[in-house]
Amino acid sequence: TRRILSGVQPTGSLHLGNYLGAIKQWVEFQDTGKFAEAENLDGEEFKEDPNVEIVNENFFCVVDLHAITVPQDPSELEESTLASAALYIAAGNGQTGIDPKKSKVFVQSHVPAHSELAWLLNCVTPMNWLERMIQFKDKAKKAGTESVGVGLFTYPVLMAADIILYQADRVPVGEDQRQHLELARDIVRRFNNEYCKGNPYKKRCKKAGMPTYPVFTEPEAMIVKAGGARVMSLTDGTNKMSKSDPADGSRINVLDPPKVIREKIKRCKTDALPGIEWDNPDRPESTNLLNIYSAVQPGRSREDILEEVKDMRWGDFKPVLAEAIVAHLEPIQKRYAEVRADEDYLRGVLKEGADAADEIASRTLKAAKVAMGFSIPK
Ligand code: TYM
Repeated sequence: TRRILSGVQPTGSLHLGNYLGAIKQWVEFQDTGKFAEAENLDGEEFKEDPNVEIVNENFFCVVDLHAITVPQDPSELEESTLASAALYIAAGNGQTGIDPKKSKVFVQSHVPAHSELAWLLNCVTPMNWLERMIQFKDKAKKAGTESVGVGLFTYPVLMAADIILYQADRVPVGEDQRQHLELARDIVRRFNNEYCKGNPYKKRCKKAGMPTYPVFTEPEAMIVKAGGARVMSLTDGTNKMSKSDPADGSRINVLDPPKVIREKIKRCKTDALPGIEWDNPDRPESTNLLNIYSAVQPGRSREDILEEVKDMRWGDFKPVLAEAIVAHLEPIQKRYAEVRADEDYLRGVLKEGADAADEIASRTLKAAKVAMGFSIPK
């Protein structure tokens, strides 16, 4: 069995970056058991042995505990959480989304072990490992350390807890999560090294009826290689598309109506050079928009796409791009509306997901506590 875990924060609405960098990959993995074009943190491709049959267990989490690392309106958090879950189920490669029969969909705060393991790991993680985190430095610089909560600082530890609880082997994420995944791996190694060795440890495990070494699995990041791993802002091709950008025109939200998508593409930043091309470092907008154009047409090759658009002017390319995005997102939006409207079904899926998640998570949490020497209640 191989475990897959990933999550998206339910802050505002999910955008094309979340979808192309993460969710679309999850669906592909769920449906095929493979990840066509991905690499790990060392830039190595995943080689599967066709002779070994692997059963994947997929867990996709709406990470609401992460969302509160920045202020959230309490009257909106639940709706954002349910909306994100509905989008997991609706969003996909044009035909399917996350199928609750094949993958577990759950809400992080429904499984208490996340908060609890995060605390244990907070006490194991050196402060300076977190001080190195680029995302924290960026966000704290923008907001000022007086107005950011301690949670924003320890957030990568909570993320490590999410991954560790399921003993996840693979974690499909976008490029911006690279450093957090490295940290999760470092925490795993440190924990296994410090707590999961020697006879006293073995004795404690035996007493608790637990398997022994090693307690935590080292996760591999899966970062999609094609342009989806780093979708850039529509208003600046050198900045990533992000929920925290105050300008809504900088991103396409998966639930934007066609009219809004057309308008955003019409206004998006371009340059004054002729033609459209890929990978010219002086033309980040051109690369980004081509990446998006390509990612929303999964069946087409890069060559085929380039052939179509290379001689176009921006004025010709933009409407073509806008229609391709609209065409890709429309069925997702339609399915989303159906799933979100059926609240009983949605809550049922989340309950089933949380029950399954809780079973595994509680087991890992107990193992961590035994390793650390806590008293285990009867
Ligand atoms: P979050 O919510 O910021 O983003 C969710 C996923 O979307 C990817 N992503 C992007 N991909 C390409 N281009 C972009 N512009 C872009 N913006 C976001 C992210 O890489 C991510 O895969 N800490 C995580 C959530 C998390 C998590 C976890 C992920 C919490 N626990 C455990 C994996 C495993 C985050 O804030 O992602």
